[in-house]
Amino acid sequence: MHHRLPSRLAALAVVTLIALTSGCTGETVHGRPGASGLRDPYFPKAGNGGYQVEHYALDLDYDPAGGRLHATAVITARAGQGLSSFNLDLSGLDVESVSVQGEPARFNRTGNELTVRPADDLERGEVFRAEIDYSGKPRPVTDPDGSKEGWIPLAVGEGAVGVGEPVGSMAWFPGNHHPSDKATYDITVTVPKGYEAVSNGELASRREEADGRTVFVWHAAEPMASYLATVAVGKFEVTTGRTASGIPVYSAVAPGEAAASAAVLARLPEMVEWGSGRFGPYPFSSTGAVVLPAHTLGYALETQTRPVFSGAPGSEELVLHELAHQWFGDSVSPKSWKDMWLNEGFATYAEWLWSEDHGGPSAQQHFDAYLAGDTDVDEAADSAWDAFPPAAPPGPKDVSSAPVYGRGAMVLQRVRQEVGDEKFFALLRGWAADHRYGNASTAEFTAYAQEKTGHDLKKVWDVWLYGTGRPKAP
Ligand code: TRP
Ligand code: ZN
Repeated sequence: MHHRLPSRLAALAVVTLIALTSGCTGETVHGRPGASGLRDPYFPKAGNGGYQVEHYALDLDYDPAGGRLHATAVITARAGQGLSSFNLDLSGLDVESVSVQGEPARFNRTGNELTVRPADDLERGEVFRAEIDYSGKPRPVTDPDGSKEGWIPLAVGEGAVGVGEPVGSMAWFPGNHHPSDKATYDITVTVPKGYEAVSNGELASRREEADGRTVFVWHAAEPMASYLATVAVGKFEVTTGRTASGIPVYSAVAPGEAAASAAVLARLPEMVEWGSGRFGPYPFSSTGAVVLPAHTLGYALETQTRPVFSGAPGSEELVLHELAHQWFGDSVSPKSWKDMWLNEGFATYAEWLWSEDHGGPSAQQHFDAYLAGDTDVDEAADSAWDAFPPAAPPGPKDVSSAPVYGRGAMVLQRVRQEVGDEKFFALLRGWAADHRYGNASTAEFTAYAQEKTGHDLKKVWDVWLYGTGRPKAP
């Protein structure tokens, strides 16, 4: 039996069928909605499906007195499927208008999802430009472990900082906020006279407007995960220079932290050169640091090219740790938030190596100190590094817990014990080179390590990387 349609609907169905099959109406693109999340095991709504961003051009106008932001984001992306709509992640703020390919687009918002419906569907493979005008008072985001990221004001009227790890960038710009989608950035920041604005990459220009405001244009040429983007607005002291091999250095320091930061920041260029020797060429076209007033964040962050410190860095190792992330985390980024030990275990191991190369305890001594809980050798050695396996944090609140750092570093020392120094350092350099500017997972690392060294490392993975409980001294 045929189901009967009312005649007008039947006619419409026939016309639609002709339009779909004939391709002569000009309306040949029939997209479907892009996914609202990338199903990250820990942050399932982070990022969006159906496209990949190539470039973000952010134009941020910030007023520290009122805490208000007026901004435009121009996102250049490539559709990975036909798209009738796509999502961006954005938390808070008011969206004033959206256009796609120069045409006004409809949009709506639910939670942290901004859904954009272009006037014309986008074709699979098409490169498109979306422009979002937005404004409001950006706010901090509290993540599952209780720390704050997003947009954090300094003392009243003094400025603010935008930071992202893991999901804070959505509080200050709309985007595909998952580490698996890396893009280049141009970040322009306009601030009142007397304030500095610091971001990632190089300062392409700095000019005074007729109204007395200052416009800073920052350019980040190498691919960057959005959680590594940063903007700091404040009354900073800026210093510039070059490392021995000529990499430009740009650092901005809160005046109250300048004296306490001077000695350790003076070693930053040497640390970058040391990293190039140990891990292979420094991946980015500039370096430096931002030192915020003490207690602004309560943590340091490896923001790309220009790590952020909350007050003067408490130790040489902390600066070294954030710089080591430039290779491990920033250039080679995790595929998902579950792969965090590839960031933190490696950066912690880099601290051990720096110590070993500079007359301190060797990496093996750090490893032994962890096993013995000897905090004289390593202050972190009494941390609960055995609480869970580094490759399997129990939940999103654990991605920055002790086992991801300390036991992650122990995994690398176990590999070194098995394969010897020559193969081990070739492995570190090869890993940084082969995944430069990309993303990698834990499974890719274990496979790579075995292939590169020619050793069967299954026991190391089973016991140290994936095993529960406290492994015995090897
Ligand atoms: N990545 C930072 C570091 O080790 C620490 C950190 C800050 C972090 N915020 C985070 C780690 C959120 C994981 C998630 O220097
Ligand atoms: Zn770290």
